[in-house]
Amino acid sequence: MSALLLETRQLRKSFGGLQVTRDINLHLQAGEKVGLIGPNGAGKTTLINLITGVLTPSAGSVCLAGEDVSALSQAQRVKRGLVRTFQITQLAPTLPVRLQVEMAIHEREGSIGRLWRPLGSYSAVQGEAQSILQSLRMDALAARAPVELADGEPRLVEIALAMALRPRVLLLDEPMAGVPSGERQVVLQALDGLPADLAILMIEHDMDLVFNFADRMMVLAEGAVLAEGSPAEIRRHPAVRAAYLGEEG
Ligand SMILES: Nc1ncnc2c1ncn2[C@@H]1O[C@H](COP(=O)(O)OP(=O)(O)OP(=O)(O)O)[C@@H](O)[C@H]1O
Ligand SMILES: [Mg+2]
Repeated sequence: MSALLLETRQLRKSFGGLQVTRDINLHLQAGEKVGLIGPNGAGKTTLINLITGVLTPSAGSVCLAGEDVSALSQAQRVKRGLVRTFQITQLAPTLPVRLQVEMAIHEREGSIGRLWRPLGSYSAVQGEAQSILQSLRMDALAARAPVELADGEPRLVEIALAMALRPRVLLLDEPMAGVPSGERQVVLQALDGLPADLAILMIEHDMDLVFNFADRMMVLAEGAVLAEGSPAEIRRHPAVRAAYLGEEG
């Protein structure tokens, strides 16, 4: 459980004269659950965009399992196990959840659009989709379509679709956005069912939730790391309280 999976070295991004990522050194071991917090505009989503290849860094590098992936496309990074979900939900509204997960597995395997497949590959895909849905406690949702879902359920579907890509590192950008506070525990409990060696970086504004989830916290402010440490250390960190937690009253 101590293998270093994801590492950023002196990662930096500027938009024109605005520096939004300032020399970020992030590391994530297999199985680690890390919470990333910071005020609006701190650069959290930008950091995920740099890690996943949506954005090109102005300087610095991203390594996955010891390989420098900085020059690779988003798709190439996904193939190597670097998978993210988005701050705003993007799902096919009317396709049953189970089918969407199966399609994501076919996409991963490159088998979409192929007319003839080896006998048994369909049932293997169905079995894998089933086990992903079970691990997230989504059996009851499998036959329904996103338009019929409510509260945290669409968020669970996104996580299931991400899991269909076989991540080693999962980056969750505000998985509770749009989920009523009373329903968030369901999403958190579902994450408990994911493989123990999966590394997860979670951006989240719900403080109770992210402090509960994480083994380790990282605080961004104005593009730089303000503090890092255990949830307990971060709760009582004076600069964090002043810059961020204080804002919440
Ligand atoms: N494409 C872009 N062009 C110019 N500025 C950008 C661009 N993308 C982000 N920014 C700026 O970078 C800063 C960081 O934005 P980012 O979306 O990473 O913040 P965040 O921490 O995810 O905030 P939130 O909590 O609101 O989601 C903001 O000042 C934003 O306006
Ligand atoms: Mg954001």
